Amino acid sequence: MLGRLTASSLVAFAPAKLNLYLRVVGKRADGYHDIETVMTTIDLYDTLVFSRTDDDQIQLAVRLASRLGNPVEAASIPTGPENLVVRAADLLRQATGTRLGARITLVKRIPSAAGLGGGSSDAAATLGALNRLWGCGVSAVELQVLASQLGSDVPFFLGETSTAICRGRGEILEPLPAGSGLTFVVAKPASGLSTPAVYRACRAEPADHRLSHLLQALKFQRGDLAARHLRNDLQSPAEQLNREVIHLACLFSEQEFGGHQLSGSGTAYFGVCKNRSQALSIAARLRQRGIPWVQVVQSRC
Ligand code: C5P
Repeated sequence: MLGRLTASSLVAFAPAKLNLYLRVVGKRADGYHDIETVMTTIDLYDTLVFSRTDDDQIQLAVRLASRLGNPVEAASIPTGPENLVVRAADLLRQATGTRLGARITLVKRIPSAAGLGGGSSDAAATLGALNRLWGCGVSAVELQVLASQLGSDVPFFLGETSTAICRGRGEILEPLPAGSGLTFVVAKPASGLSTPAVYRACRAEPADHRLSHLLQALKFQRGDLAARHLRNDLQSPAEQLNREVIHLACLFSEQEFGGHQLSGSGTAYFGVCKNRSQALSIAARLRQRGIPWVQVVQSRC
């Protein structure tokens, strides 16, 4: 979501995602894994403000939105080339040869190392915003190619689609129509998980009926049925690597969710609720149990 502030500045809202389904299909020769996943964006956003400069520099400042609620992360968000925002800007400059620069302010609400796609979404927002602000004229197809060089999830966030089946290493998209939306509680423990470490510990698993049942449930706007057909093959390896994931899974089992699981490689964990008032009361109970970050969010699937 992009908006113009002035002739030389833009604001972008970069959403987080949840994986309603993730099957590890197999390991590839290039070290990645082929997967089959259903991703949906949620109304939890990072905000990015881009100002065009003439000095050939990319300057990134990162601020934490107060409701992030995790002081450990403040120091850990890089502002140099390790940040996907800077890498996206550099990649677009290399691809187009532009001599323009940008001042970028990133306001983080999406926790890092959570499986919520925050860094990937920020990178996609950066490609889209700077393509416009610098007047590069890179086509949507070429932007997708650049996005896949930045990360497996980045192409999903670049498109207009809020829900998609993603295959390959995650970069091959089959958009799904938007629905009336599902309500979730999302929680994250203090610690995070490294995506490569979780993938190293996973194994390929056979297909089952859950994907087709989930897609049917989404098509007919049956959140209650969708909740029963969640799947994430990365949950078991994540639990082996991080005991806080097991603890969250236990706490979620005690609540009246329709279904619950890890998002992506974690450590964020979500449950599907009947409606917002149910979600708010479960979220309050989980906060009382000492979980540092708990949010009620909505998707458009
Ligand atoms: O693509 P991305 O940079 O987000 O991936 C981070 C790491 O996660 C990869 O280097 C790889 O180790 C692992 N990965 C994987 N299979 C995928 C996606 C990620 O093995 N489909």
